[in-house]
Amino acid sequence: MPSIPEMLERRTRLLGPNVSTFYDDPLHLVRGEGVWVWDAQGRKYLDCYNNVPHVGHCHPRVVEAICTQASTLNTHTRYVHDGILDYVERLTATFTSDISTAIMTCTGSEANDIALRMAEAVTGKRGVIATDHTYHGNTTVVAQLSATNPPTTGDGSHVRHVPAPDSYRPLGGVAGMPHAQAFADKVQEAIDNLNASGIGFSALILCPAFLNEGFPMLEAGWLTPTLDVVRKAGGLFIADEVQPGFARNGEAFWGHQRINAQPDIVTMGKPMGNGHPVAAVATTAEIMAAFRNSFRYFNTFGGNPVSCAAAMAVLDVIEDENLQENARIVGAHARAGLSKLAEKHECIGDVRGYGLFFGAELVTNRTTKAPASQHAIRVANEMRRRGVLMNKLGIHYNTLKIRPPMPFSIEDADFMLATLDATLDHLGPALD
Ligand SMILES: Cc1ncc(COP(=O)(O)O)c(C=O)c1O
Repeated sequence: MPSIPEMLERRTRLLGPNVSTFYDDPLHLVRGEGVWVWDAQGRKYLDCYNNVPHVGHCHPRVVEAICTQASTLNTHTRYVHDGILDYVERLTATFTSDISTAIMTCTGSEANDIALRMAEAVTGKRGVIATDHTYHGNTTVVAQLSATNPPTTGDGSHVRHVPAPDSYRPLGGVAGMPHAQAFADKVQEAIDNLNASGIGFSALILCPAFLNEGFPMLEAGWLTPTLDVVRKAGGLFIADEVQPGFARNGEAFWGHQRINAQPDIVTMGKPMGNGHPVAAVATTAEIMAAFRNSFRYFNTFGGNPVSCAAAMAVLDVIEDENLQENARIVGAHARAGLSKLAEKHECIGDVRGYGLFFGAELVTNRTTKAPASQHAIRVANEMRRRGVLMNKLGIHYNTLKIRPPMPFSIEDADFMLATLDATLDHLGPALD
């Protein structure tokens, strides 16, 4: 079996330079089942990180749905097929609004690309607002939205960034609704700037749980002042549900529903096909008609019968295995466990999250809240050595990010917490 350095050399030779891997000691995974993955040496790891195998790695019902459809027929949407119709009907029934149509794509990036074009078709304007610590995908247009990995080419002159919400260090100094108003004021400033520059305002695009930003704690109604500003200016709100969607937050099926924020367009991807590349953009009949009449859109693989079968099986499993409720219960248990660890380990400055997306922000000093970004890297690497996979993210890259497959159990959470306790004991104080 080739060594990791040999495989890395081969990757660079075949895939080019600068292709990132996780961990100081990269993992060579060969198998997965439920919440577990195995490396090439047969070592087992508890997966606390991967949200794409949403209903569990290699879930038999999703595998069977893919195999059955792949051995029956796979074509594209220029032939009529009931797979896409049944799926879109069932998907749009999860919204508590008049979102009733969808375009199926292969990636979240494509879905966001279409969402921006929909907003442009409706408003006739191009200006887009996003947070300064997000990622919405990799197409030429969508990549312009990222302030953390800005592309070196292309035109981002129509993009304005607002400060990513941070409930631990809130804009204006006070968490809750004052923070919400401070955020809305920043969005208003960005809209004014777009209008003054002659570009005009088209859409605000946000992950409604701000997961790439470090999942700040936001109460219901937190986005209301912002959405009032957006609507008054004639813009649309695009909810990027690529990460918080499909019941992960435990309280509602979608991230925007948890905080009562009504989007005009919803995009989704990652967990939708449990690893099969399927994504979508959903919206109202009016917005869809404006888009379809402005752009002739076709996607060879988007909405093919195999993808629809995989996506439908994921919805079946979420429902039949009661995974939203599992996320609520296990997530609450795990967060309580993290709070208990915070009583012992000074480096844990804040514990937060919802359902099965949660974590702890590490600091070198609880009074100054100085980020322990290096310590977070050490913790993720040590956890990996001890057989538990997690990572870090957030505005300061110091927040442990825990986002396991949805069948994660109380026992799995306890194993993760015990390993984290031992890891923090082993590493000692966060000095960075
Ligand atoms: C919030 C968000 N939106 C969109 C995307 C892009 O999705 P994809 O990689 O399927 O194109 C990502 C990927 O990480 C994401 O985190």
